[in-house]
Amino acid sequence: MDVRLAKSAGFCFGVKRAVETVYEQIEKQKKVEKKLPIYTYGPIIHNEQVVQDLEEKGVRVLESREELEALQEGIIVIRSHGIGKDICELIEKKGLVCVDATCPFVKRIHTIVEKESAAGKQILIIGNPGHPEVEGIKGWCDSPAVTVESEEEMRNLKAEEWKEICVVSQTTFNYNKFQELVEILKKSRYNSSVVNTICNATEERQTEAKKIASEADVMIVIGGAHSSNTRKLYEICSGECARTCFIQSLADLKLELSDSVRLVGITAGASTPNNIIEEVQNYVRNEF
Ligand code: F3S
Repeated sequence: MDVRLAKSAGFCFGVKRAVETVYEQIEKQKKVEKKLPIYTYGPIIHNEQVVQDLEEKGVRVLESREELEALQEGIIVIRSHGIGKDICELIEKKGLVCVDATCPFVKRIHTIVEKESAAGKQILIIGNPGHPEVEGIKGWCDSPAVTVESEEEMRNLKAEEWKEICVVSQTTFNYNKFQELVEILKKSRYNSSVVNTICNATEERQTEAKKIASEADVMIVIGGAHSSNTRKLYEICSGECARTCFIQSLADLKLELSDSVRLVGITAGASTPNNIIEEVQNYVRNEF
């Protein structure tokens, strides 16, 4: 039996950078005389182990704007998802220290929507309306943005009064689905400019996962239960391989492999730490 681990499994560049930023801040605070408490605005990644490790090192997670408003001092690390302009302004107004670890690919979307909405365009975000990245993007638009996630929503778009539309995407959105939605939009009479802001890391991870899953007898997808990019990986892999399992860590893995299983594929979402991937990989390699 063969085990194939996707090269693109695990932390993407932006998440790695954000997590490292928090650890750097912890180290910096050890060296200064007047210590400031460190907070992250929302969990730094969708991974309970990492968040817990940071918590043990004194980093607290701010869950809401209200919690931020209640602070008197501290360092606020912004995660890779980014935040809206209003939150940036609030941090500044309160005199807190802002350490911005927004992924540059997300920051690029902020710049686009800020500029295009200021020029009078209607911003249309293709993505999950409840996702913090989308919330953040909305927060850089001059006028209210509209978020579309499904074909039905795109078809039902009431956009008669819109002059020009600027379409962007959540970085972790499925590339094929994005194209399908754009096609629907293009069939209508709307005047639209489309910027594909899907991150390459996601695209590569999805393409590689799909290929491995199409050849594998069993496919394992590792990632946080709340991680949307991991859920999408699971969706893609399930379409190719009927025996696809979604686990958070080795503890969730209930694997029974018959002799007919030739290939087990493994991939992991953007916020899955290397040690968890290694653990699963070693287990599958050694136990079967
Ligand atoms: Fe950034 Fe892409 Fe990761 S947008 S946070 S490198 S998935």
